[in-house]
Amino acid sequence: MVYYKVRVYTGGNFCATTINKVYIKLVGEKGESNRTKLLGLKGAASFYQGTSSKFCVWTDVDIGKLTLIELDKQATFMTPQDAWFVDKVRVKNPEKEAFIFPIYRWIDDNKVHRFREGTALRVIDDTHHLGRYGREQELKIRGEEYNWDVYADGLPHCIKTTGPLSLPSEVQFSFSTEFVYTASAGLTELKLKGLDGRCTAWKSFEEINKVFTKKTEITEYVQKNWKEDAFFGYQYLNGVNPILIRRCTTLPSNFPVTDEMVILHGCGSLADEMKKGNIFLCDYKNLDGVRANLIKEKRQYLAAPLVLLHKTPQDELKPVAIKLKQTPAEDNPIFFPSDSEYDWLLAKAFVRSADFSEHQLNVHLLRTHLLAEVFAVSLLRNMPMVHPLYKLLVPHTRYTLQINFLARLLLISKTGVFTQFASSGGDGMFTILQRSVSSLTYSSLCLPEDIQERGVESVPNYYYRDDGLKLWDIIHGFVKGVLSFYYKSDDEVGQDSELQTWIQDIYEHGFLSQPTTGIPQNFSTVEELIKFVTMVIFTCSGQHAAVNTGQYDYGGWMPNTPISLQQPPPTKKGSATEETLLQTLPDVGTTVNGMATMWLLSKQSSDFVGLGTYPEGHFCEDAVQKLMEGFREELDKLSANIKERNTGLKVPYKYIDPKEVENSVAI
Ligand code: FE2
Repeated sequence: MVYYKVRVYTGGNFCATTINKVYIKLVGEKGESNRTKLLGLKGAASFYQGTSSKFCVWTDVDIGKLTLIELDKQATFMTPQDAWFVDKVRVKNPEKEAFIFPIYRWIDDNKVHRFREGTALRVIDDTHHLGRYGREQELKIRGEEYNWDVYADGLPHCIKTTGPLSLPSEVQFSFSTEFVYTASAGLTELKLKGLDGRCTAWKSFEEINKVFTKKTEITEYVQKNWKEDAFFGYQYLNGVNPILIRRCTTLPSNFPVTDEMVILHGCGSLADEMKKGNIFLCDYKNLDGVRANLIKEKRQYLAAPLVLLHKTPQDELKPVAIKLKQTPAEDNPIFFPSDSEYDWLLAKAFVRSADFSEHQLNVHLLRTHLLAEVFAVSLLRNMPMVHPLYKLLVPHTRYTLQINFLARLLLISKTGVFTQFASSGGDGMFTILQRSVSSLTYSSLCLPEDIQERGVESVPNYYYRDDGLKLWDIIHGFVKGVLSFYYKSDDEVGQDSELQTWIQDIYEHGFLSQPTTGIPQNFSTVEELIKFVTMVIFTCSGQHAAVNTGQYDYGGWMPNTPISLQQPPPTKKGSATEETLLQTLPDVGTTVNGMATMWLLSKQSSDFVGLGTYPEGHFCEDAVQKLMEGFREELDKLSANIKERNTGLKVPYKYIDPKEVENSVAI
């Protein structure tokens, strides 16, 4: 008889314990054990949350190098079927050679589940017939469990599911997180209950200030500076939407600004300044002609502005001209800082409100949440757990399917907060999203190329760019290390059928088979693969953090980010007053619902998993462990540098500080 020492690790998460009977079968290259009940010294306490327990499994003969285990658990009359979270199983053979089987998932049924030994294997490495069979079976089950669905025509596809709890248990998250998108919780936390139903306009800015009790270091700065032109410009670099601004080399034909109109802070002509790279444009053409929402049956308004900005000799970015609608017309004046205080402030309020819609729908929802879901679904459908790409990417998909389901249910559904309270909620939202899809290119998702394409390489004080590019390089270095370890030649990439199916699924369901997106339809080199995987991890971590974390910082003081506007864009100059602005800003109920939602969406979750931390040990190879350590060291260095840099800034930029960035889109 040959005996194997088995140690089973039950997860430390809430309710991970099972009291069911657990069975194991060891499968080796030369044979297999019987299905054996795991009986240990701890008895019924063997599989308690956060513990590990030892067992023995006997075989008649040496079964050779272990390739997989089969686990199942059975309810009894006394112990009804429960859910068990297993971290891993370690098996030692008589020669004391250890085999680790990473699991990190719930088992909540009585079926047999197969788990592979932890050494990553591409399909071409998987030569053992049982290994190959297990791989095929796993992909068959995954293909049935994770299906694509169409939420709306023209948008990236999403996971097919009927409810937040109907997703496979391996991707479920803690129940408390389900309430994250209900404004009600935020209203209570911000002590705004009772105001959420009020349809009246604000009477004064002091009245808004009275409900603005929850403050952060940045919200206080915003409240003091929201009227300042330099701060208005600063937000295009380091606010929640840092990807719209582009260098302007030729004025668009629908924005006929002349030298006589603008004041360029003592510099030369518009043409000279454009040539020097000091003129920038923000164009909200995605919002053109979109019919704004009705809030409590009252018509709302949404502009589609063009904003021209100038980099001053003092290295500030200041708006010099604003046009609120795209088509030139007499009733569509161009506003300038030299106009009356309230004409200019009102024009800027329309821009900030347009920016809210552009940011939430294009920059945040589409370009991070919906894409992260595409990457997750394609991974879960096409990659077996033993594949190195599964091991590398699965931590970056954590909670994404659930949070997106909840976003569809609680934010953008017919009764969702966004639909009820944002000017671009409802039908307009789909128009904006569909238009946004048309600008969704591969190069715009790769930060180094995006910065170049937008011509913003040398804009001063652009911390999103500076921190983002450093983070991109660190992620790229890590991904290169891991993938070069598994793929020694371009041919090996081409031969990996699972890898090719993964990218084809992304191309088809995420980018709707549009070759103009530039998204690869297959991979033929290791380098192409490294770049794409870098983009996936960057999008799910740093980019999402950059556009998510500051929502309350920049939106908590409502006048800086009105989520809707109650009056149409001004058609002439000279009549706006403080009263006009207050009548235009969202009503009390809309304001507090917006504040509450942004508060909830900016909060760090209690089970936050920071970028580069991999509590689930999917990789077992020492070489990859070392790469992970190196990755974390680089991230720590970047974090320290960012913290140091921030000490000298009036407004710290901390959204891409790796210590604040989560591994995945989880909020
Ligand atoms: Fe988010």
